[in-house]
Amino acid sequence: MSQGKRVGIVGAGNVGATVAYSLAMLGSCHEIILRDNKIDVARGKALDMSQAASAVRSHTVVSVAEDMSDLVNCDVVVVTAGSPRLPGMSRDDLLMINASITKEVIQGIAEYSPNAIIIMVSNPLDAMTYVALKESGFDRSRVIGMAGILDSSRMAAFIQEKLGYGGGQIRASVMGGHGDDMVPLPRYSTVAGVPLSDVLSEDEIDEIVVRTRNGGAEIVGHLKTGSAYYAPAKSTAIMVDAILKDTKQIHPCAVYLEGEYGYKDVVSGVPVMLGANGAEKIIEVTLDEAEQEMFKKSCASVQELIDSLNKNNFFKGK
Ligand code: 2OP
Repeated sequence: MSQGKRVGIVGAGNVGATVAYSLAMLGSCHEIILRDNKIDVARGKALDMSQAASAVRSHTVVSVAEDMSDLVNCDVVVVTAGSPRLPGMSRDDLLMINASITKEVIQGIAEYSPNAIIIMVSNPLDAMTYVALKESGFDRSRVIGMAGILDSSRMAAFIQEKLGYGGGQIRASVMGGHGDDMVPLPRYSTVAGVPLSDVLSEDEIDEIVVRTRNGGAEIVGHLKTGSAYYAPAKSTAIMVDAILKDTKQIHPCAVYLEGEYGYKDVVSGVPVMLGANGAEKIIEVTLDEAEQEMFKKSCASVQELIDSLNKNNFFKGK
């Protein structure tokens, strides 16, 4: 049996399957294992992707886990499983449903891949990352949520669209939770090293900030039957790749805070260094008063969801 890297993906819907496809094209792991209740769909996608990998001469093989016990000894497990919001469902209802799905999935990962690094993608992202951390009992460096890379990429794309130039040279920065209160940071965003304020007006920057916060909803508005998946999946694949290759790159990711930025026992998006051991370092950026206020509001929104889980005795016995 090969000692190559194994990546498990729970949930082979649009996001999960596109993460698998991106990784197969990158060739950064030996094996990708898809786990989905729709097992035949997962089988079909796995075959299709293995064949695509062959087409680009990638060595990656994509296979299917019949159940969680096949997700064994993975180096990284990506969790995209979750329910979409259905008519008549409150935000709290969705929170409870996805928290229960996450709990079950995480228990399986902790049992069969106890050394894995978990990347959470299911929404509400920051609360689900919190659930995954508590349910796995893993060190916080091994439970990381994807969102900051996605939100920053959206901001960069909007900056490019507004400017009409600079593609591939834009570095945008977004911190905080993956919700309406996320914290886009124009002050830390540049075009080929040039501060945003030197190339765009204040009104234009404000417009980009608002559009970034609504970036997910804008796409749902077009698709109608679902949400974005190309950029969410690519952002996740970037994280997996950085971990597997131990690149020590800095990316904004959702992690459990233990005093950083003045917050404890909550998950939020901050710049972290990704390497073989997961989130190996949390970087503390200097925020001005207004940015601190926005970060506080964002943390409070995530805290509300955690409080709601506690109110429903979700973590009983933990
Ligand atoms: C997004 O931002 C739904 O969280 C997903 O596209």
